[in-house]
Amino acid sequence: MTVFYFSATGNSLAVAKRIGGTLISIPQVADTAGLNYSDDVIGLIVPVYAFTTPCIVKRFLKKVRWQADYVFAIGTHGDRYGGFCTDLAKFCQKRKLRLDYAATLKMVDNALIGYEIAEQIRTLPSKRVDEQFTAIAADIAARKRFIKPMLQSEKRRNRQIKMLRPLIMNPRIGRKMIRADAKCTRCGVCAAVCPNGNIAVTETVKIGKRCEMCGGCVHNCPANALHQRGEKSAARWRNPEVSLKELIEANNREERR
Ligand SMILES: Cc1cc2nc3c(=O)[nH]c(=O)nc-3n(C[C@H](O)[C@H](O)[C@H](O)COP(=O)(O)O)c2cc1C
Repeated sequence: MTVFYFSATGNSLAVAKRIGGTLISIPQVADTAGLNYSDDVIGLIVPVYAFTTPCIVKRFLKKVRWQADYVFAIGTHGDRYGGFCTDLAKFCQKRKLRLDYAATLKMVDNALIGYEIAEQIRTLPSKRVDEQFTAIAADIAARKRFIKPMLQSEKRRNRQIKMLRPLIMNPRIGRKMIRADAKCTRCGVCAAVCPNGNIAVTETVKIGKRCEMCGGCVHNCPANALHQRGEKSAARWRNPEVSLKELIEANNREERR
């Protein structure tokens, strides 16, 4: 089994580790031409961004070809998944990429503008992550064919978010949204953990024009010196099943800048 994943704060990597197989980090391959993979089972485990798939994952899906007897996708998210699964199924169908199963798994929401992270952590037990994971793992083991539909109640919100996407998922906006405060030690972790190699640390932290808005730099800063404009609090999240070293290994693109 080959599992592709993208993770800024560890939720998707934690799920990928539990699923197992050969794990391939999408930022390490997303900009490579001629990607061809074949295995008995292929999986995709990524966060839900604005009810859809992150830009870096779409970039990867536009390049990759895969052959497998069964392909599954899991979107990790924190609150509402909107049309994530149906949207991904359409995207794959258009590119003639096999997709048999798409589900979502609710975890801590790491969106700093929308949610207070300490509250997200406090209420995490109510999301019953283990139970959700067990059900999805059983579906995959049974090779279930199922694309989780959008909830009727989310259709209107999904349309609104779709219209706002060019604004909220604009790769140029991040540089205006993130700033370092006086606690910054210029350690370079933010640059190393950025999935787009979009951060340079000199006398200051400089964010370039390819920001995914993933929050990896802000959540993983060892000095908690990075802040997103409009964040609800200075509380931060990294999934306890994933180390900073693992996230750096997964996302580091510095050598390719
Ligand atoms: C830019 C951005 C947009 C997000 N949009 C959604 C969303 O539409 N719905 C949702 O439930 N969670 C949303 N989230 C929360 C993440 O999907 C969730 O925390 C995910 O598990 C993070 O995965 P990771 O730790 O692997 O990066 C968003 C997070 C970010 C940073």
